[in-house]
Amino acid sequence: MSKYWSPVVKDLVPYVPGEQPKLDNLVKLNTNENPYGPSPRALVAMQAALDDSLKLYPDPESVELKQTIASYYGVRVDQVFVGNGSDEVLAHVFFGLFQQDEPILFPDISYSFYPVYCGLYGIASRVVPLNDRFEIDPADYEQANGGVIFPNPNAPTGRFLPLDQVERVVSANPDRVVVIDEAYVDFGGESAVALVDRHPNLLVIQTLSKSRSLAGMRVGFAIGDSELIEALQRVKNSFNSYPLDRVAQAGAQAAFEDEAYFRQSCDGVIAERDRVTAELEALGFDVLPSRANFVFARHPLHRGDVLMTGLREQGVIVRHFNKPRISEFLRITIGMPEQNDALLCALGKMV
Ligand SMILES: Cc1ncc(COP(=O)(O)O)c(C=O)c1O
Repeated sequence: MSKYWSPVVKDLVPYVPGEQPKLDNLVKLNTNENPYGPSPRALVAMQAALDDSLKLYPDPESVELKQTIASYYGVRVDQVFVGNGSDEVLAHVFFGLFQQDEPILFPDISYSFYPVYCGLYGIASRVVPLNDRFEIDPADYEQANGGVIFPNPNAPTGRFLPLDQVERVVSANPDRVVVIDEAYVDFGGESAVALVDRHPNLLVIQTLSKSRSLAGMRVGFAIGDSELIEALQRVKNSFNSYPLDRVAQAGAQAAFEDEAYFRQSCDGVIAERDRVTAELEALGFDVLPSRANFVFARHPLHRGDVLMTGLREQGVIVRHFNKPRISEFLRITIGMPEQNDALLCALGKMV
């Protein structure tokens, strides 16, 4: 704390990201990265972007990338916004699209950055408990609010809400923006992009960090009605005109153009997720049904924090949240088969 800090900074409670360890030999299953790595075509495109043109600013509007995303999803370019990771897109959404007259709503167990943005921008929020099976109940979102946001599939539960139920939440709140954070949708979810033309209050957010394995590059995007996108543009152009550098724009575009690699790596993650789920269940774990690139699991006889520490001692890192309702769970990112084997072997020694 310093006398030079503004009152806002004094009260901030920042987000704490999962550890990025400096040790190479750890089995890293703690931050939901995709172990298959970026498309080789994306790597070539990024290398090709490393030339003298870096002396020039990038296209501030990332027009070619937006065109690629628009044609991939069958929407218009003015329905697409891009930002420096979906975290930045989310920040602009909180600032630009949530109303201040009522608290915004999000699930009690959800992405822990949402309350942080509320703190940063002074937005009131009300958490809506998931049901006993850790599912979102659309009926709970039929109450006065300043906006609604939830991930689908949800994080850290991995649970998926079918599209007709997503649409029920969107339809129940025609005067408020409903944001569906689809960071994990490509691992077996169903995208609400299919609904944006019917609902001017629906905004869908996705990222290249997970299914396209480009977490280190920082590209996220939003798709929705052009008026919602214009609000995000206004915030972005009041904050940072050039959120995506030349290398990131080139890599992201090439990643979208390599559908075969994308499908192959998602399918690899899904197959391993199903194997890990079955093997964890064989070890006695309760595993929530996941449509993401991670599983959320607890053991009826062993504490979550003890398992997390024991795994770390064996060189495997997973995420544990010391929070009500979920402190017995581990969130385990799906890795390469040999990493998953190391996890299962280490757990097998403890349970
Ligand atoms: C639900 C959810 N949304 C958004 C993000 C942010 O992703 P990125 O900023 O890498 O695009 C994450 C990252 O873990 C996430 O879990």
